[in-house]
Amino acid sequence: VAPRDLVGVRAVVTAGGTREPLDPVRFLGNRSSGRQGRAVAAALAARGADVTLVAAHVEVPLDLPGVTVERVSTALELERAVRALAPTADVVVMSAAVADYRVAEVSSAKIKKSADSPGLTLELVENPDILAGLVRDRALRRESGDAESGSTRPSVVVGFAAETGDAAGDTADGGGATVLDHGRAKARRKGADLLAVNAVGERAGFGDVPNAVTVLDAAGDVVGEVAGSKDDVAHGLVDLVAARLGVGGR
Ligand code: C5P
Repeated sequence: VAPRDLVGVRAVVTAGGTREPLDPVRFLGNRSSGRQGRAVAAALAARGADVTLVAAHVEVPLDLPGVTVERVSTALELERAVRALAPTADVVVMSAAVADYRVAEVSSAKIKKSADSPGLTLELVENPDILAGLVRDRALRRESGDAESGSTRPSVVVGFAAETGDAAGDTADGGGATVLDHGRAKARRKGADLLAVNAVGERAGFGDVPNAVTVLDAAGDVVGEVAGSKDDVAHGLVDLVAARLGVGGR
């Protein structure tokens, strides 16, 4: 039985994959199932946290006790939802797979095949990095020192990074950067308090498969390793979050 050590803690968890519309019937999407985010939300709620799950497109049911679900579709919708919730949250866990790009202009009519050109070129524009934005906005609020708008929250911002190593020979020394090298660089770039790095390959990562993560802090230093099912990873991660919040843990 999980300890109820997170009673009074407000948590926001994102899950699933965003969809970026091209026209009324098509979108650019990704393979995120939402399982890891769901597991994190469930683990936080089991320990008594008050959880809002901001769910993009998921393959799993989200009816979890103690969890309020807010549905979104695109990266910009997800950003709006998270930014509204973050300043009053203690913890934000960004498990969603957010599209890095959206189409510059969504077509209001279904895009037709053209008789005279064989291909189709889509112009994409970058989506905001929501995680990096949360960390940046928090830093601004902390600097402003205004107790009302100047919330120091969220105390703990957590990201996930699915990485692959480079093929040997991709770097000058011929070794290729490892999953952890990429994770370290990302941790420093994004500034999340905790970044859960997992190696995606043929076996681990997406869908209903076991997972293994190395957790880094904002400096890129390893603060934990968790392996097992997505539930095990979620509980391990929540232990690290609880430690950061200064509550007992198990
Ligand atoms: O850079 P990468 O997509 O690997 O980073 C993954 C982490 O950043 C995840 O926590 C994801 O939710 C978050 N992210 C984000 N906004 C984006 C892209 C990723 O918040 N546009």
